[in-house]
Amino acid sequence: MDKLKIKGGAPLQGQIQISGAKNSALPAMAATLLTAEEVTLENLPMVNDIITTRRLLRELGSEVEFPSNSSARLKTRNVISHEAPYELVKTMRASVLVLGPLLARSGRARVSMPGGCAIGARPIDLHIKGFEKLGASVATEYGYVEATAKRLKGANIVFEKITVTGTENLMMAATLAEGTTTLGNAALEPEVADLAQLLNKMGAKISGAGTSTITIEGVDTLHGAKHSIIPDRIEAGTFLAAGAMAGGDLELVSCDPGHLTSVISKFREAGVNIEEGKGRVRVRGGSPLRSADVVTHEYPGFATDMQAQYMALMTQANGISLITESIFENRFIHASELVRMGANIRIDGSRAVVAGKSRLTGATVIASDLRASASLVLAALVAKGVTTVDRIYHLDRGYEKLEEKLRSVGAHIDRVK
Ligand code: UD1
Repeated sequence: MDKLKIKGGAPLQGQIQISGAKNSALPAMAATLLTAEEVTLENLPMVNDIITTRRLLRELGSEVEFPSNSSARLKTRNVISHEAPYELVKTMRASVLVLGPLLARSGRARVSMPGGCAIGARPIDLHIKGFEKLGASVATEYGYVEATAKRLKGANIVFEKITVTGTENLMMAATLAEGTTTLGNAALEPEVADLAQLLNKMGAKISGAGTSTITIEGVDTLHGAKHSIIPDRIEAGTFLAAGAMAGGDLELVSCDPGHLTSVISKFREAGVNIEEGKGRVRVRGGSPLRSADVVTHEYPGFATDMQAQYMALMTQANGISLITESIFENRFIHASELVRMGANIRIDGSRAVVAGKSRLTGATVIASDLRASASLVLAALVAKGVTTVDRIYHLDRGYEKLEEKLRSVGAHIDRVK
């Protein structure tokens, strides 16, 4: 298993290119199942979740080619299987995103129940209730969700709780339904709006994506299209934290500061020096950081996917900060590893109390989810001595060339096979 070895203390100087958003690319790839024609996706991040999705789509009958290392051509002439097996769903929960497209295109889908994961229970009951409202029969047995429908029928669906992939799954399903669907209390995430853009290019009639009410007028068929994925706001936020902690002068390019508003304003409150430009953000480290409380929230609030990285940042701020996780019930697994590196963190239910500034020292650390691993890399960049981050397959699921990007701006970081 690969590890990262990081020697802390080097300031970060230079430019980093932000990749396409993983959480936009995954639903976009699933959406290509809705048409028999070819869809070209550009600005894809070449991360392991994309490779897993390619595997899944190929099993369902798609031809998937990567003509370059940031684009894919996908074509599903015929759906040859309706099943997302346990082996794939257990490595990547986002596999559930094929439910909506399969059901809409061919009236049948069978997907392994995702079950729990490192950050909490994560059920898909809201996806299922939505499909039932669209007229599907859904059975959950033998560890699988099996949905069938002759043709889905438009309906009025109000989500009891905001769900990102739930909104995406239902939006995809409704594109081919008979009649009009409205999704209320929909997720506002930019990735939802990006997916709607792709679907509209494919001939769907969606309005309101990016607001809490989305309207989808069903059509009979969808066609091929070409679409470029939006920049990854979580990758950008992670590098902003790196620049703020390690010092130096770092510029992130090909990103969208408009999607980073709450992260940038929270970082500024904590004393981080950030300049925004068109498609770029510059962070200059070195100024003392101060504590600032944060509560994670659905977009446009502070993303839960930035919580672990923010905790690493707060270990370097003077004072006590309170970090409240309101989206997932068990998302503080990184805290105990940060403590092993010298951080002063206490967990009380959904709250973490971080007292800084701590002098961090290198250690061998492990994390069991993607963003938790990122927070350990951030801590390692400022720790005295060498940190070994183990089990980096989590990082490889969602960060494209993380160590190469950091090394190019001066970090002492190596991958050990
Ligand atoms: C997506 C993101 C993930 C991010 C999360 C929250 C992708 C591929 N993943 O995950 O990176 O951390 O949004 O921003 O885009 N819930 C239910 N029932 C459901 C669905 C969700 O109770 O049917 C709950 C979840 O357990 C959680 C909350 O709703 O507490 C939000 O989850 P959701 O927005 O669905 O997360 P994902 O779409 O899985």
